[in-house]
Amino acid sequence: MPKLSNTQIRTFENEGVLHIPGFFTDDECDTIRKRMSELLNEYQPQEKETVFSTTEHTHTQDNYFLTSGDKIRFFFEDSENMDTSRPLELSLNKVGHALHDLDPVFSSFVRQPKLAQIATDVGFANPLLLQSMYIFKPPKIGGEVVWHTDHPFLWTDPPSVKGFWVALEDATIENGCLWCLPGLHKEQPRQRFRRSDAGGTEMVILNPDPFPIEEKIPLEAKKGSLIVLDGLLPHWSGPNMSSRSRHAFTLHLIEQGAQYPRDNWLQRSNDMPLRGFELQASN
Ligand code: FE2
Repeated sequence: MPKLSNTQIRTFENEGVLHIPGFFTDDECDTIRKRMSELLNEYQPQEKETVFSTTEHTHTQDNYFLTSGDKIRFFFEDSENMDTSRPLELSLNKVGHALHDLDPVFSSFVRQPKLAQIATDVGFANPLLLQSMYIFKPPKIGGEVVWHTDHPFLWTDPPSVKGFWVALEDATIENGCLWCLPGLHKEQPRQRFRRSDAGGTEMVILNPDPFPIEEKIPLEAKKGSLIVLDGLLPHWSGPNMSSRSRHAFTLHLIEQGAQYPRDNWLQRSNDMPLRGFELQASN
């Protein structure tokens, strides 16, 4: 079972990001790609399904998004791509946000001892599996994901969220790989996304200073790579202008003992509480 070296742990602590090539096998990646294509085959798009854009925030008012924390829901890149004659995987931005609890194939993919070990190695005592997303970044239309950190969206007190980002296909500069600002995770959060009293959501600005994005570095990743991101590490990905897709899977974990505010956008119903790796139960 892979276990991080002291050097890797120190790298993660100092830079807020750790790239582990070859963490998942090609077969493991292909298993969840195949499962996603089955879910797409079963899916019947409804009228007015929501669009997911990080550059426009109209979707955040959408009930479809705000009630997706304990469901498997489908989000289109933009309204022009909701043409149902087009293959779904060439039109969708992502599927989220509880694949890891509701679908047995995704549950088995994430509830592996080797992934639980990485969670322990990067500092979790009792991790809870909060959010999962299958990201398509389709050729030619996959959109930019603006500079952000994950903690403002999945707030806990104290901050605890960490992201596991899995390359299901090779991610390159051309097809829109992640970029990040190593070391910036040591700074205080600059914003908080939350449910507003008036309904919908709002972004509260805590510090208006822009990130020093001229220092950005690319995280090109081969299929099967695992990239661990601290919840306070700024990251970004550009549009996919290439003719190749860039499928990825992400899982966000929080610490069980940290306080999870009631005005975070992602809320679970009482009959579907957050779960951990539960390795004893699955072995
Ligand atoms: Fe993110």
